[in-house]
Amino acid sequence: MGEFNITGGHKLHGELKILGAKNSILPILAGTILNKGESIISNVPRLSDTFIALEILEHLDCTYTFEKDILIINSSNVSNNVIPIDLVQKMRSSIIFLGSLISLFGYCKICYPGGCKLGKRPIDLHLDNLKKLGVTILEVDDILICTANKIIGADLNLTFPSVGATENLILASVFCLGETNIINPAKEPEIIDLVHFLNSMGCNIQGVGTNCITIKGVSSLYNCEHKVVSDRIVAGTYLVAAAITDGSILLDNVNISYLQSTLDVLNQLGYYIRSYEKDNKVFITTQNKKLSLPLLETKPYPGFPTDMQSQFMALLCVSNGVSTIKETLFESRNMNVSELNKLGANIIIGENQTSIITGVNNLVGNTVYAKDLRGGASLIIAGLVASGVTTVKNSEHIERGYEDITRDLTILNGNITYSN
Ligand code: EPZ
Repeated sequence: MGEFNITGGHKLHGELKILGAKNSILPILAGTILNKGESIISNVPRLSDTFIALEILEHLDCTYTFEKDILIINSSNVSNNVIPIDLVQKMRSSIIFLGSLISLFGYCKICYPGGCKLGKRPIDLHLDNLKKLGVTILEVDDILICTANKIIGADLNLTFPSVGATENLILASVFCLGETNIINPAKEPEIIDLVHFLNSMGCNIQGVGTNCITIKGVSSLYNCEHKVVSDRIVAGTYLVAAAITDGSILLDNVNISYLQSTLDVLNQLGYYIRSYEKDNKVFITTQNKKLSLPLLETKPYPGFPTDMQSQFMALLCVSNGVSTIKETLFESRNMNVSELNKLGANIIIGENQTSIITGVNNLVGNTVYAKDLRGGASLIIAGLVASGVTTVKNSEHIERGYEDITRDLTILNGNITYSN
């Protein structure tokens, strides 16, 4: 339960390298059990969520070494197929191990991940489609007991392009009889990265990033090496942090095409962006326009990402004019509104997950509370321009998705400290 203290008024400038993506390493770690061998993975972020996933792998009798950003997993002795309740409750995305375990053992016992601050977070799309693959699912007091003699490839039509469901169904189908076609899958870059990883160990998966992913069942897999794709949400967070401080920064090790929807919004807001595609770099500077946005609506990839909504909300707090954000993926991704208003922002929560933001001339430092990962990041962003000191409590939310936000913002000339 640490806290960040940010002293506002420092323009960000400098250069920073972006690390691997949280939402990529988590499903990849679930996939490392499939080859019952060695996976050498680089560009791995040292996040609290990474270490929870590694705890699960140890529980499944895997071993690992983790030096700097190089993670070597050995799953030769993977045997256990039960995920402890306490680990699922620590990280709801542990549900992603279900697909791998059912693939490998034809059995998995795991508890419902339950909801979180963002909303109910149901897993009906995961379970309904696993059943179409031949999985029997028994629910006893929120415990899921999943069994399958063999995974039978099938045509699966997702009614919503769920990221987690797409990942789980891919992982469940790698050894299937015949082939599985997932229609209307999620197209997020982290799924493309997962498929690159799985194909590097011998899986046969085509069509990722399109409207139909085809997984042809294989019988055996082998050792592999993979570099995790860079984190487009961490990169976007720091671009918005530079924008709000009227700063100029250069980010390295980014994938420009994966950042495009974020860059488009920054352009609409009047910021100057230079993308160096071949060098994987992006530069941003201000033109002091502080434009507002009539409507910013979150959508599945390649639309504007829900994971960037909170960060842009902070930026729009100090724009000229009135902006509206509409959150369409989660029922309650606006817990940061009350905290931003404590800093002097003027945000009203409207109907159907809309937030109406009337720009103010300045924000004033205060003590605020992170309630979720990206909402917490938005409070730090606001603190960079609030007068005086802003204290952001409940740092553990933010540490789930940012390896060391204090180090990174300090490199970029931000005035931020962390204390336990
Ligand atoms: C992943 O969550 C990410 N998490 C989230 O990032 C991200 O916000 C989300 O995708 C959307 O891009 C990880 O990858 C670990 P979904 P996931 O299944 O898989 C509904 C962050 O900040 N739904 O696409 O849970 C669900 O309720 C986190 O890094 C069903 O109705 O997202 C939600 O409203 C936050 N039934 C919507 O779909 C289902 O079976 C999006 O969920 C599954 C989902």
